[in-house]
Amino acid sequence: MPFPTRLVLLVICWLPIAALADGSLSAEREQELETLLYQDCGSCHGMTLRGGLGPALPKSRMNAYSREGLAALILNGVAGTAMPGWAGLLSQQEARWLADHLQNDNPLDE
Ligand code: HEC
Repeated sequence: MPFPTRLVLLVICWLPIAALADGSLSAEREQELETLLYQDCGSCHGMTLRGGLGPALPKSRMNAYSREGLAALILNGVAGTAMPGWAGLLSQQEARWLADHLQNDNPLDE
């Protein structure tokens, strides 16, 4: 087959892989992360994110961070406080998903 055709096929085959690498998690994993957010993070931050042992995580406050900054905070935790780092349990992409959720799909819209 001529070279340009091969190139087009290569790009078409590569696109879904690029999409996967670039931030789309499976719906199932997103569901798991949502459960983790309200149950595990919620055990300190409150099941509705209104705070408890940890501070409330309202949308306005979450948007004071960049998405990358928030993801890094989730992965690394806050040294010297009860906020643990989640790098052992979450990938960078998953932490970014949680950060995005806190900034845009946050039930605590204050
Ligand atoms: C064991 C309790 C605990 C758990 C579990 C926990 N956190 Fe925290 N988190 C804290 C504490 C305490 C702080 C406040 C740290 C400080 O004083 O700066 C905090 C701070 C934060 C902040 C910064 C808040 C701000 O106002 O700047 C974010 C964002 C955050 N946590 C997100 C999460 C997420 C997402 C999870 C789950 C993946 C999680 N936390 C799980 C205790 C916890």
